[in-house]
Amino acid sequence: MYPTLLVLHSLFRWLVLACLLYSIYRAAVGLIRNRPFAKTDNAFRHWTATVAHIQLMIGILLYTQSPFVKSFWRHPQTAFQDLNLTFYGLFHLLLMLVAIVLLTIGSAMAKRKTADRQKFQTMLIWFSIALVLIFVAIPWPFSPLSGRPYLRTF
Ligand code: HEM
Repeated sequence: MYPTLLVLHSLFRWLVLACLLYSIYRAAVGLIRNRPFAKTDNAFRHWTATVAHIQLMIGILLYTQSPFVKSFWRHPQTAFQDLNLTFYGLFHLLLMLVAIVLLTIGSAMAKRKTADRQKFQTMLIWFSIALVLIFVAIPWPFSPLSGRPYLRTF
């Protein structure tokens, strides 16, 4: 189960990023060009939040299986000296949770706004903040916190 979850979680990151980037792009263009908030905009608002929630579920399952997390919680005091263990035991989880909560709030607030400009504005701000947090918390191969591959296959 662990290897499958790891591959799924790794691949899903690209879907989360693609949805977020495209939603942000649509919100920015909609705002600049004074466009009406179309059905497609609403679909991307909705699906971006849904894809992030699916990634959250995979992440939670992975958290219960990961040898890094298990090792972190076995001896938290000494584990704090190991950046790799602290990253998966604490930082990655907390940053991603905050990002997904912000994304969810942004999506819900945009849905409730009545003016189209306000819908775009709300999406643009909240999704952009979430994107920055997610980008920082992803273990990119170049990350000083923990380096993982761009792609994993089954
Ligand atoms: C948008 C949200 C998230 C993204 C984009 C994301 C992305 C990633 C990526 C790219 C990896 C590296 C996978 C690899 O080694 O190839 C990873 C590892 C991991 N993620 Fe996430 N993650 C997210 C949310 C979460 C959440 C909310 C949790 C926990 C509740 C979580 C738990 C983990 C764990 C435990 C690992 C390390 C697993 C291991 O190597 O044993 N992730 N994540």
